Amino acid sequence: MLFPSEAPLTTQAYDFLANLVYERSRIRLGPDRQTLVAGRLRQRLQALRIDDYDDYCALLKSPQGADEVDALIDLISTNHTHFFRESSHFDLLTRQLLPRLAEKSIAEMRPLRFWCAACSSGEEVYSLAIVLAEFFRLRPAVQWHIEASDISQRMLERCQQAIYDADKVSVPQPEWLERYFLRGIGDRDGYFRVKNELRRQVTVRYVNLFQDVYPVPRGLDVIFCRNVMIYFDVPSRNTLIEHLSDQLAPGGFLFVGHSESLIGLRHGLRTIAPSVYQRPE
Ligand SMILES: C[S@@+](CC[C@H](N)C(=O)[O-])C[C@H]1O[C@@H](n2cnc3c(N)ncnc32)[C@H](O)[C@@H]1O
Repeated sequence: MLFPSEAPLTTQAYDFLANLVYERSRIRLGPDRQTLVAGRLRQRLQALRIDDYDDYCALLKSPQGADEVDALIDLISTNHTHFFRESSHFDLLTRQLLPRLAEKSIAEMRPLRFWCAACSSGEEVYSLAIVLAEFFRLRPAVQWHIEASDISQRMLERCQQAIYDADKVSVPQPEWLERYFLRGIGDRDGYFRVKNELRRQVTVRYVNLFQDVYPVPRGLDVIFCRNVMIYFDVPSRNTLIEHLSDQLAPGGFLFVGHSESLIGLRHGLRTIAPSVYQRPE
């Protein structure tokens, strides 16, 4: 008998997996990713005690395989992220957008609503939360909340836990470490946990960016959807931007990754800085 590490992933099985991943998540796996996919799936097959990729495909096609599709997407998705990634976005928020949004919140007597729409393990969410907590520390009249979502359950668990390797927690102001993180002791030595008061401001939930209806409130003031569109083809990007625009309040802002401009896509948003867009009032 061949073990999964030896059994080849045939092109036919790979095409089936790539189509399934695309249908479910719109993540496009090109032919160049076949070896990578085989490598990522090997341990999964061992854990399931499945001998080869064809049997794994048969499981995915069966009624019992419905949940396994989520596990497959979990394994395939790229989750790279870090604290204060693309920091100019946070600077722009603090210097230009939050003062305007604070006035709006007070005038309309409502909390500000933010959404990190492909949040991975949460570093982006808590970077944003720190920026908001800092800005609104001196303006306690303004309430705010962040929705954090991803398609990967594994990443959502990490986002919810909010425990990070101390070496990876890098913040622009050293005093923010003490203000917003607890240092682990004992078996948690070497880790930081985001403090409860910040975690309370965040709701973590599963959202597939291509599901019909988003389970997050409409009328959002800011959406971060950064470093995920690169995995989608142009028709999917158009669909996504249309859905996200609908989710914004008039005058709300959409942030995409630095390498993901909306050039060439259909949209009715105004460009206010590279990779930052606004829904017209
Ligand atoms: C590279 S990470 C980006 C994390 C963060 N936004 C950043 O810029 O650092 C991309 C994330 O998008 C998520 N993702 C991919 N396809 C998705 C989909 N269809 N719906 C929701 N999330 C998706 C992945 O699970 C992954 O965590």
